[in-house]
Amino acid sequence: MTAPAIEVAGLRHTFRSKGREVAAVERIDLEVGAGEFVALVGPSGCGKSTLLRVLSGLLVPTGGTARVMGEDCVGRPGLVAYMPQKDLLLPWRRALANAALGLEVRGVPRKEARARAKGLFGVFGLEGFEQAWPGQLSGGMRQRLALLRTFLTPAGVLLLDEPFGALDAITRRGMHAWLQEVLALEPRTVLLVTHDVEEALVLADRVVVLSPRPGRVVEEVAVGLGRPRHPGVVTTGDFTALKARVLAALGDGAGAEVRAQEALEG
Ligand SMILES: Nc1ncnc2c1ncn2[C@@H]1O[C@H](COP(=O)(O)OP(=O)(O)O)[C@@H](O)[C@H]1O
Ligand SMILES: [Mg+2]
Repeated sequence: MTAPAIEVAGLRHTFRSKGREVAAVERIDLEVGAGEFVALVGPSGCGKSTLLRVLSGLLVPTGGTARVMGEDCVGRPGLVAYMPQKDLLLPWRRALANAALGLEVRGVPRKEARARAKGLFGVFGLEGFEQAWPGQLSGGMRQRLALLRTFLTPAGVLLLDEPFGALDAITRRGMHAWLQEVLALEPRTVLLVTHDVEEALVLADRVVVLSPRPGRVVEEVAVGLGRPRHPGVVTTGDFTALKARVLAALGDGAGAEVRAQEALEG
């Protein structure tokens, strides 16, 4: 049997700053199979971003183990393609140069990196904006640019931290359809963080629900809906039943928080 693409066991992390301690995650156990799409949901502050930062190699946890494609990834950046929650576009690089960055830092010659990045601008709805500065782009465009850069990174595992959070509902639906198409053409293992339960169920093979801080896995819901999933899937009885299960696992407090967020976003 091949090793899971992502393996997290007994993961804990406590932030210490200025004499204060914040236990962000506690005993997280999680496996993601090769080619599987897992969505991670949980109340804000429960440690979702912390978990992704550990897997990206950028944050060394207090305890536990984390492996990517069978390799220990703790303190080892570069094994995954990671889109942080804050887009981290470099304001002094034009859009195309930002998009090509992941390739350039891996040693792909600048000209080739930019040619490959340019080829994706249309797919990501950014055609014609190659020479724009990040400050000239809307929030949604910046997010698509960060996503483009992540997709270009040559790694089998994608970690996406609320990649569609800044998009309006219609654009977001378009991105869901598009993401499914891209993954059907070029399969990857995906771990996606979202506070949007419907987004999680539209996209994922499995939804993992975390408790309030310090985060622990409280429920795993196998989605089992056919693919491709069209936007209308959200009105089906099967979908509604899955959504009820995830909301119940989020618990009253967390469920109310997620619902309030959804109401705010319309
Ligand atoms: N660099 C940090 N220093 C201190 N506390 C932090 C730091 N980063 C995150 N935290 C705290 O850890 C907890 C988990 O944060 P985070 O992983 O960002 O949650 P989520 O992504 O689920 O909203 C929160 O209480 C947050 O305030
Ligand atoms: Mg977060």
